[in-house]
Amino acid sequence: MDFIWGAATSAYQIEGAAFEDGRTASIWDTFARDVVGETGDVACDHYHRMPSDVQLIKSLGVNAYRFSVSWTRVQPGGRGPANVKGLDFYDRLVDELLANGIDPWLTLYHWDLPQELEDAGGWPVRDTAYRFADLSSLVIDRLADRVQNFSTVNEPWCVAYLGYEHGVFAPGRRDFKAALDSTHHLLLAHGLAAAQLRERGRTVSIPLNIGTATPASDDPLDVAAAWRADGNVARIFLDPLRHGRYPADVVEDLAGRGYTLPVQDGDMEIIATPIDLLGVNFYFGQDFAGRDLDGNTLDASGRPVVREIKPDVPQTDLGWPITPDRFTTLLLRLHHDYGWPLVVTENGAVFPDQPDADDFVEDTERVAYLSAHIDAVGAARAQGADVRGYFAWSLMDNFEWAEGYAKRFGLVRVDYQTQLRTPKRSALWFRDRITSAP
Ligand code: FCB
Repeated sequence: MDFIWGAATSAYQIEGAAFEDGRTASIWDTFARDVVGETGDVACDHYHRMPSDVQLIKSLGVNAYRFSVSWTRVQPGGRGPANVKGLDFYDRLVDELLANGIDPWLTLYHWDLPQELEDAGGWPVRDTAYRFADLSSLVIDRLADRVQNFSTVNEPWCVAYLGYEHGVFAPGRRDFKAALDSTHHLLLAHGLAAAQLRERGRTVSIPLNIGTATPASDDPLDVAAAWRADGNVARIFLDPLRHGRYPADVVEDLAGRGYTLPVQDGDMEIIATPIDLLGVNFYFGQDFAGRDLDGNTLDASGRPVVREIKPDVPQTDLGWPITPDRFTTLLLRLHHDYGWPLVVTENGAVFPDQPDADDFVEDTERVAYLSAHIDAVGAARAQGADVRGYFAWSLMDNFEWAEGYAKRFGLVRVDYQTQLRTPKRSALWFRDRITSAP
């Protein structure tokens, strides 16, 4: 089986044991407690159930498992030496996976910044990138002898914009400049880790959340609006990674808003450290129009209108439009415009699961979603895109960030009272799909 088939999770969403064996608070512990009202204190209790969870992963028939390390488990407080007990956990996880024929795909940062580093300024502060480089070296020193595939920073757009501009994710700030500064420092952090990984001969990827920005019509105004939206979410990350420069139109737009990215000498070379794979986290595509609902083309501040329109198609239970055809378009676009080999590092959906008396969920809608998106990957490959793998989000139901536990993405159902895991129809379907893969 050449193609990589996997399931994905992240540390804070599943581990629990939030304050055990030396782990300290991250920004998500704080935000979950203060804003969400549900926390990852216990989550799926994976920290205590890891060996049986590895058997669960194995039962899916996958050959890879994507997980992240908890920064504050490995390096409490975000500075100083490694917490041996914390690293021991990932050491055991990696060994357990390898012993079961599952390739570990390790993500170094999946959103859980140490609270102390946020208190010192967080991602808007340049030093945070160097702190991340230190964390990376601790993890690499301990695990790179057995882990080949590393991802650096998961979805930097969400970290920067949802966390620092929109305030809907940790740390919950609402400051556009902070988001912009974070963007650059997250890319720098990625580059610093990527350089270390290359030196060790490891495979480097960065998972970006890139929807598609489709013009609502052929009207040049809509086309321009979609291009602007694409610049702010996709090209602002893709271009520096590939070409070592921010897109000129984005820089110009930002200048119009009075902002300049905090680039220092040598940063862009670090950011453009070659990667081996681009990770693609895809959930849905969007349309954009260049007029507001009253037909205006400029907003109150005199800037061109970029109006987001949800495609008129069926939606998931998070209100996300189901757009598999755009997934094919995206993969082909990334292939043609950027040329990296691609791996789908996340794809999945929430539906209102109804467990039966045995806790089994007949999630036909999730099966349909996964099936359509896996077919979309197949269509992109048939047209030349070099897509090497597909990770379903997620292995099991877990703490879905600002949504808490109400929204379930798992292939496996988790009863949070008993921690019972029950594979849903989608898990059984996924296993069969992998077995019958061409
Ligand atoms: C992505 C996150 C992942 C998960 C999915 C639904 O943005 O990377 O942790 O929450 O969305």
